Amino acid sequence: MPFLDACRSRKTSRVPVWYMRQAGRYQPEYREIRKNYSLLEICERPELCAQVTSLPVTQLGVDAAILFSDIMVPVGPMGVKYEIVEGRGPVVAHPLRTRQDVDALHGFDVHDALPYVLETIERVKDRISVPLIGFAGAPFTLASYMIEGGPSRDYLHTKAMMHGEPDMFSNLMAKLSEMVIYYLRAQITAGADAVQVFDSWAGSLSPKDYEMHILPHMQRIFNALSEDEAPSIYFGVGTGELLPLFKTLKANVIGVDWRVSIRAARERVGSSHAIQGNLDPALLLAPFDVLKARTAEILAEGMEKPGFIFNLGHGVFPAASTDTLRRLTEFVHEFSEARLNY
Ligand code: CP3
Repeated sequence: MPFLDACRSRKTSRVPVWYMRQAGRYQPEYREIRKNYSLLEICERPELCAQVTSLPVTQLGVDAAILFSDIMVPVGPMGVKYEIVEGRGPVVAHPLRTRQDVDALHGFDVHDALPYVLETIERVKDRISVPLIGFAGAPFTLASYMIEGGPSRDYLHTKAMMHGEPDMFSNLMAKLSEMVIYYLRAQITAGADAVQVFDSWAGSLSPKDYEMHILPHMQRIFNALSEDEAPSIYFGVGTGELLPLFKTLKANVIGVDWRVSIRAARERVGSSHAIQGNLDPALLLAPFDVLKARTAEILAEGMEKPGFIFNLGHGVFPAASTDTLRRLTEFVHEFSEARLNY
């Protein structure tokens, strides 16, 4: 399996490829389903959700599927009421601001609270032959939605709590870390072959603040996950300056965005992790020749040694086309098969 081998920095016959948000609104089939079901309603229906998860595998020829869900799904059973607002993202009814709010967050039994997630995983495994990636949001990124009450540009309330009430913030991070470990283990037991932790907004932090307030929790998460068979991936946007700190994480793969080259990412992270990334998703709208040239540059750096997974630097957006992604996948496979010499 090229994807799982690359996660473990083993040699592969081609560069494996998958795309963040490979199931979503750019697909006519998904838009059709969304006419009748909200995003969360899709998640709650295992057969439909398995279909949505599997579609990119047949349609694009990618080397892995990612569970169709949202990072907010496990936050609901902790006691947080939220909605996913179209065009905006998660919106939380009562943002967490006080010690009582944090203390009120509670654990849950995934079999009781989110049985449909586990059932979706089981059904996906029956449908596809490529590995399935399970996922969770990282504590900081989840906390940012919970504290701000929705998407944010500056994360002012989140950073205010981090600096002003460090014990309370740390308590929140610890609770979310426990949840992430528990939830990802349940996904692995249900059949997930790898897991990705999305810390989409960690790049808003300085290296010093990340090291003080976030790193210990991420170390705890990846230490726990390293005991499982399934490899783990840690991804964030704009994390170029944080990469040297990720050296200490026992994740198998570090995902990077387009603001850093693959070669620089490898130098900063060190040789014990595989790298995943990092085409600017905006290039999906460029002429195919331009897209190909940029992809070839990324692949050339990625193929310098084992342990590379091709992906976008962030998610596919709705204006992208299925045809472009299918041709891109084919190009990554053909280009790398012809040139790989490790
Ligand atoms: O990648 C996949 O194909 C799996 C599905 C997936 C979704 N959300 C479905 C979704 C994954 C992995 C996520 C994770 C997620 N959710 C993240 C981390 C990844 C990242 O993009 O940084 C974050 C930050 C969220 C929170 C969230 N949910 C946002 C910012 C949005 C977009 C709001 C919008 O409408 O543009 C959502 C909604 C959401 N989650 C959509 C999808 C396909 C949008 C489409 C819809 O409403 O049907």
